[in-house]
Amino acid sequence: MKKHGRVVIVANRTPAAKSAGGLASGLLDALRRERSLWFGWNGELREDDGNCVQLFSCDRLTVAAIPLSPEAHNRYYNGFANGVLWPAFHHRLDLMRFSDDDYTGYLEVNRHMAAQLRPLLQDDDLIWVHDYHLLPFAGMCRRQGIRQRMGFFLHIPFPVPSVAQAIPRIDELLDEMCAYDLLGFQTEDDRKAFVNLCRERRPQIRVPNTGGYPIGVDPLALQAEAEAEPVVQLWPRDRSIRGIISVDRLDYTKGLPERFKAYALLLEQHPELHGTMQLVQIAPPSRTDVPAYVDLHHELTGLAGEILGKYGDLEWQPLVYVERQLDRPVLMPLYRQARVGLVTPLRDGMNLVAKEFVAAQDPADPGVLVLSRFAGAACQLDGALLVNPHDPGEMAQAMLQALSMPHAERVARYRRMWAVLCASDIEGWRVRYLKDLEALAATEETLAPATAGA
Ligand code: ADP
Ligand code: F6P
Repeated sequence: MKKHGRVVIVANRTPAAKSAGGLASGLLDALRRERSLWFGWNGELREDDGNCVQLFSCDRLTVAAIPLSPEAHNRYYNGFANGVLWPAFHHRLDLMRFSDDDYTGYLEVNRHMAAQLRPLLQDDDLIWVHDYHLLPFAGMCRRQGIRQRMGFFLHIPFPVPSVAQAIPRIDELLDEMCAYDLLGFQTEDDRKAFVNLCRERRPQIRVPNTGGYPIGVDPLALQAEAEAEPVVQLWPRDRSIRGIISVDRLDYTKGLPERFKAYALLLEQHPELHGTMQLVQIAPPSRTDVPAYVDLHHELTGLAGEILGKYGDLEWQPLVYVERQLDRPVLMPLYRQARVGLVTPLRDGMNLVAKEFVAAQDPADPGVLVLSRFAGAACQLDGALLVNPHDPGEMAQAMLQALSMPHAERVARYRRMWAVLCASDIEGWRVRYLKDLEALAATEETLAPATAGA
């Protein structure tokens, strides 16, 4: 088999423009051992977005990052990627706001990024493109004469066909996605949803190879970080107050209001728990230029205030709500201090927080994961207490069960999940995906360009 040269990562985020989110943290962990170029946006909004690629290196990684103009970024990122694709792919058609200008802007940024990448490429590069910001990127590259093998990985779920059909321009987007050589999804359900949609709507188009590649974490590295002396000690070490921790970007897909309501129900139904437990919700603001995110912030601060007003007193607060991004060395020991990890998205591609929580636990005295059955991670983490995040009673019951779970059961559940984390870690994810992409490179000719876009 031919050995590839560099792996070229293309993503909206680069290490130059990181945010709390699965993409950057997952990829950084995955690329430590690979000679790679990482290309994407540098986090700057500048009018003269022209032809300015900034290059810098960290270890074996070279980062090539470009600025975008405020208007281009607004149409591409806030408008189409996060105003249409994000809500629709998470089955929130009610939050979808489509405009032709945003769609044109999205295509234009994809075309512009392809043009900026082209002179940086070498013949034996393998190109690996990430996430819904870049669905049409392969088509743009092919039309500009880029012939290197190109794979795509979708970090978020793919919608079921009945929902996907409501996305304006979906047929054009499917054609563009089919210009990739390999399409990777988090779960088998996501992969099947994509293939079924193509069969239904674009029977004339050749669907490229597809596969399920559930993203993982580096369990040993996270465990080591979690073992370190905590920067912050949240709860008494004698566990006189049992901690429940939740960590999510402030996003409407994460089920935060539903979680707060379920917690309020637990407080109402079980007064004997008052003073003995505390929920800490850490939620860094995200996509604050998209109206649905601003609404969520208001709703949550309102709910948090209600819980504190009704159940808190001078000695004890049932809830701590922090809209902050934390460094990983601070975060990991916090997971370890918690008796319960509460991860209850309404729909999620994988959810790395669930895996991080498990990795951070003390094997001798682990906490319990309460996990939404609508997170991709639920297909793998069978030692979690799986819940329906739309059912407050079921969630309250699961929190109660988790808080009082006997030691032997906690350990047994933790061991099952730890084994999964090790068997399906971030390194295995990278190797499997790239092996599949490279195998295609050795056997097939580069496909002809897909139908026209921008
Ligand atoms: P998403 O990609 O939708 O944000 P994931 O759960 O897959 O969801 O990934 C979230 C990543 O962001 C995790 O690696 C998590 O540790 C990190 N993260 C989330 N919230 C915070 C926070 N408050 N501070 C630091 N990192 C965070
Ligand atoms: O996992 C989905 C995702 O959109 C990633 O691409 C990104 O890392 C994360 O959520 C955070 O979102 P954003 O890049 O919009 O801040």
